[in-house]
Amino acid sequence: MDASEVAKHWEANAEAWTRQVRRGRDVFCDALNSPAFFAMLPSVRGLHGLDVGCGEGANTRQLARLGARMVAIDVAPTFIRHAAELEKTEPLGVDYRLADAMALPFEPSSFDFASAFMSLMDMPDPGRALREVSRVLRPGGFLQFSILRPCFAPPHRRVLRSRNGEPRAIELSGYFESTDGRVDRWWFSVLKGKERKSVEPFS
Ligand SMILES: C[S@@+](CC[C@H](N)C(=O)[O-])C[C@H]1O[C@@H](n2cnc3c(N)ncnc32)[C@H](O)[C@@H]1O
Repeated sequence: MDASEVAKHWEANAEAWTRQVRRGRDVFCDALNSPAFFAMLPSVRGLHGLDVGCGEGANTRQLARLGARMVAIDVAPTFIRHAAELEKTEPLGVDYRLADAMALPFEPSSFDFASAFMSLMDMPDPGRALREVSRVLRPGGFLQFSILRPCFAPPHRRVLRSRNGEPRAIELSGYFESTDGRVDRWWFSVLKGKERKSVEPFS
């Protein structure tokens, strides 16, 4: 699947994703991933940073609140619009740009650090994105990223539960199968019943 097709899927997700994230529906990120990410992040005060695949910008804003001078990119225009809109109510000086992580529109050695929160695994060629990040980082700069553990995102994944509904194990298969071109459809896991039926799944 090429980058423009991936971008179309994310653009289609962006409106509902932004609304749900801002209503606290991305509980794994809010309760686990992002706190863990920030807990292990070195000080970024005074540094020039690039956030890769910024989505609606919650984590970029947090980096800016920690004192970093931030540029943030995403392939989905609706994410960039929503992220930039919040600059009006909470100006943090973030420069949001529509761009593809696999072809970054920046000069070599432009940034002190880069971050990628749960975005590299959504790109068709993460290796190319990593090479691009390396190119735009100054020598000695750093990249910190989070991704889905590949072991838990194979073609088949099912939670096995006991009779009373308690999770007992996770059944996985097809770990070594190519997933190129496969489109997953999913909801934030806290969405149940009526709320789930009222929105399209993400792709
Ligand atoms: C799971 S979301 C994470 C968003 C955000 N980092 C967060 O933590 O809320 C993945 C993001 O990667 C972006 N993305 C996917 N492919 C991309 C690419 N080639 N270049 C830049 N961003 C990309 C998507 O548009 C989406 O915003």
